[in-house]
Amino acid sequence: MDITSILSKDLYKDKVVFITGGGSGINLGVAKVFAKLGAKLALCGRTFEKLEGAKKELEELGAEVFIQACDVRDFEGLTSFLKNMKEALGALDILVCGAAGNFLCPANKMSENAFKTVIDIDLMGTFNASRAAFSQLKETKGSMIYISAGQAFIPYFAQCHVGAAKAGIDNLMQNLALEWGSYGIRVNSIVPGPIEGTEGMARLAPGEVGKKLRKMIPAGRMGTKDDIGAAAAFLCSPLASYITGTVLKVDGGMNLAGSGLFTALVSEVMASSSKK
Ligand code: COA
Repeated sequence: MDITSILSKDLYKDKVVFITGGGSGINLGVAKVFAKLGAKLALCGRTFEKLEGAKKELEELGAEVFIQACDVRDFEGLTSFLKNMKEALGALDILVCGAAGNFLCPANKMSENAFKTVIDIDLMGTFNASRAAFSQLKETKGSMIYISAGQAFIPYFAQCHVGAAKAGIDNLMQNLALEWGSYGIRVNSIVPGPIEGTEGMARLAPGEVGKKLRKMIPAGRMGTKDDIGAAAAFLCSPLASYITGTVLKVDGGMNLAGSGLFTALVSEVMASSSKK
């Protein structure tokens, strides 16, 4: 079922939604849900060609789309993006901070620069986008969604960089909910579980590993990009107007099983890739 079919097609009519890292994966999935609900989309990412492909897909859904290549580690780049986006689409209503980097690497093998790179993209990138967007969000009494991860509250093997970055994101989310609530701005985090058809799943849980993982998810299935889009559409809507500072897990109950299974599966993936 297309989950947007149960919502008004005009729910986000004329609203401007900016999604960092929106050119692919879960973030593009979230963009598509907003597009089907009438929103205008703005996407940034490092690769212009990816953004062009995403723009085409969103235009086919009827959305007006603005794209500009921009790395979230570059505050000036984000400032320029937001200025140009405002001229093209109007002021920002919703910011989704989804840009992230990830790879499997145990802490004792990780370089200082590798750890810093993920902190810079995920945590600094989220602060940079939020800070750069503040004045426009203040104008519209807008809403922000941070894409977090289960690693933020459960340690996962070979994921210490991601855990530190995502825990930081959730804490930043709560601080900004506290500080910016008086401007009418709401902030919430979404924790996606394993989502099918993403680069993350292809790399972290390929082939047989993915099949084993699927069996262990309490909900009995992998999540979809629409599942995350639906959560974002809910949290940014008037249905959630009194919800701010929360972490919403959209993971089919995956966190309830802890990270032991993931650790066992990752060890398999890493053992098989080190043999190659
Ligand atoms: N294992 C260990 N270290 C790694 C690594 C891996 N698989 N991938 C990158 N690094 C290290 C690099 O070696 C480098 O450290 P060094 O200078 O000490 O050698 C550091 O991380 C930065 O890597 P670099 O590729 O120069 O950074 P980047 O800014 O171009 O890209 C990522 C960083 C994380 C985005 C990149 O690894 C990547 O493209 N990952 C796949 C895409 C992705 O993560 N998508 C998100 C899915 S959730």
